[in-house]
Amino acid sequence: MPHITVKPFDTSLLVAGKCSEATEILFVAQDNFSSDELLGIKHDQEEFLLHLKKNSQSWLLKYDKVTRPLNVNLVKEAIGDVSKSLGLDVLQSNITIHPTKATISSRYEKTIEDFVDIQFPFSTVAIEVGFGSGKHLLHQAQKNPETLFIGIEIHTPSAAQVLKQIELLGLQNVWVVNYDARLLLEMIPSNICSQIFVHFPVPWDKKPQRRVISTAFLQESMRVLDVNGRLELRTDSPKYFWYSVETFLGEHVAKTNVEIRKNEALEVTSKYEARWLRQEKDIYDVYVTAIEKSDERVLSFDFSFGEISYKKEILDKISYKPKLFEGFFMHFERLFKIGENAILLKLAFGSFDRPEHKYIYIDKSKAYYFNSNPVKTLTNHKTHLKILEYLDV
Ligand SMILES: C[S@@+](CC[C@H](N)C(=O)[O-])C[C@H]1O[C@@H](n2cnc3c(N)ncnc32)[C@H](O)[C@@H]1O
Repeated sequence: MPHITVKPFDTSLLVAGKCSEATEILFVAQDNFSSDELLGIKHDQEEFLLHLKKNSQSWLLKYDKVTRPLNVNLVKEAIGDVSKSLGLDVLQSNITIHPTKATISSRYEKTIEDFVDIQFPFSTVAIEVGFGSGKHLLHQAQKNPETLFIGIEIHTPSAAQVLKQIELLGLQNVWVVNYDARLLLEMIPSNICSQIFVHFPVPWDKKPQRRVISTAFLQESMRVLDVNGRLELRTDSPKYFWYSVETFLGEHVAKTNVEIRKNEALEVTSKYEARWLRQEKDIYDVYVTAIEKSDERVLSFDFSFGEISYKKEILDKISYKPKLFEGFFMHFERLFKIGENAILLKLAFGSFDRPEHKYIYIDKSKAYYFNSNPVKTLTNHKTHLKILEYLDV
């Protein structure tokens, strides 16, 4: 990911204002517990953070994981502009822009915010969760030009690569969303999908809370699927297979049929599948079919901060221990000061198996999530109300 290593410099040079025609520093935020700083950047209408990490010999100016845009070139350009405008002494850099390598076809890239009022231009919709290299997603899209395929992938380089493939293949019926599928699914309207593919999800044997399959994911999938629509899990992991079967047969989702297959041959073999086949491993399929219509989802949650503004008392109140509630949590991870009258809070919150990671900007007159609101889910909204209560000092 883009970064430069620079010689230590006088940080009083870091001030809000324009660095170039395209790049503006919105604020400079100082970590309360280390010498790290975050720069709020506006570049080509996108807002994100850059992270300045100070080691003893050299400093690192790099992207921030929570706020990074999908188009990595924006981060590279912003780092370049900041470095140039401050006259930094660059020791090492990987921000060269390769125009042939990294251009992204934004027409097919959708953000989570787009889904608030998105129109689906096809009558049939299918979803693939964690498409990796995209082999199955692209194959399906080519074979079914009348179906819209929504590919959701958390790994940014894979999402960018597949966007390039879509462009090269001239496909009109694929959208790519670079996000956590467990959260994005909650933004999809009810009863619109015919298939949801989850092929070879990471088993996360040691961190089960990171698994894609959970009761909540199953419930969301069944809501999104139309009657007779199918969730299709394919895995090589016997442990994940049994865990999923137990989840699917659990008492929380009544409106389903579950089918199990072993070593079913599909028309297309993904990179992962090819590896397991070479090792002669068994491959398991579990199909869960929706058998009833679901209610429409509610998306009218408000994530604004009302009267909340910066007061010194907030600094005394913030505790960095996770706070657990019934079905959700709130964990303030870091606090950054922006001068004397504003702060940036980094936090994780929401449901345990689908946490959100966000920043909250607070100054004397306003507070908001930087650089976008949380996903509009009931759990996130419940947590947001707790955050409001907590910050109201
Ligand atoms: C083992 S790979 C399988 C890729 C592909 N389905 C295949 O069969 O080759 C799992 C993929 O799921 C993605 N992934 C993991 N958790 C995810 C999540 N919560 N939301 C979206 N994608 C996720 C990973 O980035 C990775 O690309």
